[in-house]
Amino acid sequence: MSFPTIRVFDSPGPAVRELAREVGELIRSRAAVGRQAVLGLATGNTPRPFYQELGRLHREEGLSFANVISFNLDEYLGLADAHPESYRSFMHRELFEHIDLPAQNINLLSGSLPEADIPAHCAAYESSIRAAGGLDFQLLGIGSNGHIGFNEPGSSKDSRTRLIHLDRLTRRDAAASFGGLDQVPSQAITMGCGTILEARRIALLVWSEKKAAIVRDAIRGPVTNQVCASFLQEHPNTEFYLDREAAAAL
Ligand code: GLP
Repeated sequence: MSFPTIRVFDSPGPAVRELAREVGELIRSRAAVGRQAVLGLATGNTPRPFYQELGRLHREEGLSFANVISFNLDEYLGLADAHPESYRSFMHRELFEHIDLPAQNINLLSGSLPEADIPAHCAAYESSIRAAGGLDFQLLGIGSNGHIGFNEPGSSKDSRTRLIHLDRLTRRDAAASFGGLDQVPSQAITMGCGTILEARRIALLVWSEKKAAIVRDAIRGPVTNQVCASFLQEHPNTEFYLDREAAAAL
């Protein structure tokens, strides 16, 4: 078994600078031949410095996102689009407002649809990814239970974009930002593990000693649907970007 590449940095700064440079080169090389770059994006505290760096590359180094198509990983179900904790709001606040990504190229899952419309919405999302030519690059964080996107323990390796019930631990982790556990949605829509694993390149970022044990399980443990990030061990082009704390148990 070939484990994914592990990169350990003193702090998040150098890690996100290197990754943003790589993504910038992908975008520029595609633009040079009149093609688009398809990026899968993630939410959470972890990618914030990466998005700040992309914003800086746009502002200070003239990196244009005009030829980018983006797809976000997931969204809570039952939140109005404008709710401050919706991933749609997060993406606009943290990234889209700071770059020139055309609005029509932004793909976000909707958490405000009636449940009956969700299967068609998920199928259309999968079709849009395929129509764009598949994901060139997928950014990931990791949940305390090893989830990627919102693929909670038990999600199969070939799962596709779908409705999912959130794990207790996931909801507990989100409780503070929602102002209490009872305010955290109990369901979400997420790209599946199969959808994610089809990305041609994957970068999973982790900065926190609190995640050291789950990082170890994901990288060194058995490949199991109890820790969905462990599926990345079988992906041919994944890198884990860790700070020293997150790598402490490896
Ligand atoms: C949520 C998101 C994940 C993210 C995780 C970790 O569960 N659905 O995509 O990786 O949170 O978030 P944080 O980076 O804030 O620890």
